[in-house]
Amino acid sequence: VQKMTDLPLEGQRVLIREDLNVPIKHGRVSSDARLRAALPTIQAAAQAGAKVMLMSHLGRPTEGEPADEFSLAPVAERLTELLGHPVALIKDYLDTAPTLANGDVVLLENVRFNIGEKKDDEQLSKQYAALCDVFVMDAFGTAHRAQASTHGVARFAPQACAGPLLAQELEALKKALATPARPMTAIVGGSKVSTKLDVLTALSDKCDQLIVGGGIANTFIAAAGYNVGKSLYEADLIGQAKALMDKVAIPLPTDVVVATEFSESADAIVKPVDQVADDEMILDIGPETANHLASLLKNAGTILWNGPVGVFEIDQFGKGTEVLSLAIADSNAFSIAGGGDTLAAIDKYAIADRVSYISTGGGAFLEYVEGKQLPAVAALEAAAQRG
Ligand code: 3PG
Repeated sequence: VQKMTDLPLEGQRVLIREDLNVPIKHGRVSSDARLRAALPTIQAAAQAGAKVMLMSHLGRPTEGEPADEFSLAPVAERLTELLGHPVALIKDYLDTAPTLANGDVVLLENVRFNIGEKKDDEQLSKQYAALCDVFVMDAFGTAHRAQASTHGVARFAPQACAGPLLAQELEALKKALATPARPMTAIVGGSKVSTKLDVLTALSDKCDQLIVGGGIANTFIAAAGYNVGKSLYEADLIGQAKALMDKVAIPLPTDVVVATEFSESADAIVKPVDQVADDEMILDIGPETANHLASLLKNAGTILWNGPVGVFEIDQFGKGTEVLSLAIADSNAFSIAGGGDTLAAIDKYAIADRVSYISTGGGAFLEYVEGKQLPAVAALEAAAQRG
């Protein structure tokens, strides 16, 4: 695909799709990681003398009903601070194209206010395309959505290319998955096997060890024949769990942290995995397991991480995730992490600068790992074919 950095941008109207879908609390951006990730792209375009229009979605508003709570206004404010340069929020861009000077940066209001955005409407895609000379797809986090601002617009824009962030994300994922340094260890945590079955299956073909955590691990523990008490697990997926255990090494916990209730004041008890009582639930891996898994991570060549291994939001059930986080940080492996909960754990244990690559993608990260074609990337490939 074409890359933004290969195109002359001076004086060009450049429309950049970013994923600026960030959490907002009390009218302020509460985590600006995605904005900071997009900054180098925005700065490069502005410095090259482009007339920069940024576009993004925020949340899941009802189309055709612009609501204040989904406005990108707080994002425009935060971008203004980060860039040290005013970023105006433009609302009526479908009626009147913004007039910009070279190097200006504006933000177009939430694309999901526009009717037809989510169904990749052709008319709307053409309206976006008419705003620009060059369309830059840089929103890796939304690359799994075939929508007008991520996909349709690339069909009609005079030129369509990949932005530096998208290119960097794809490169890091390729490094981890296509040519991984061995051994490759993946960690897949989270509550349900059912939502991660595709990713577990894909990784079972690629990695040397597959570490499972959270409710997912409970299903595997049950598949190995242990009582999981009243833990969250999926009885109907035990067959699938067994099939996965036949395909790849899945190191199961030998000890676990249990409690009789799921609450911040619950007492955490460490137990061997074969001694979970009927009224107990597993909420974390135990210390022996954590140390064993940490040694696997320290010796890995590649680590791919999606999902915590316990209920780390509650401190007494966070030790397992903390020990693994620190092992990832200490490992010489090429480590890549993605997903909202994983990023929250990385923040909590302050290891961000010791993970090789932190993806901005949640759903997009998983779909890539599953081996699915990302529609927004396919649209850029088609645009490159058209020339
Ligand atoms: C995300 O946060 O994963 C992306 O911004 C995509 O958002 P969506 O799931 O609402 O399409």
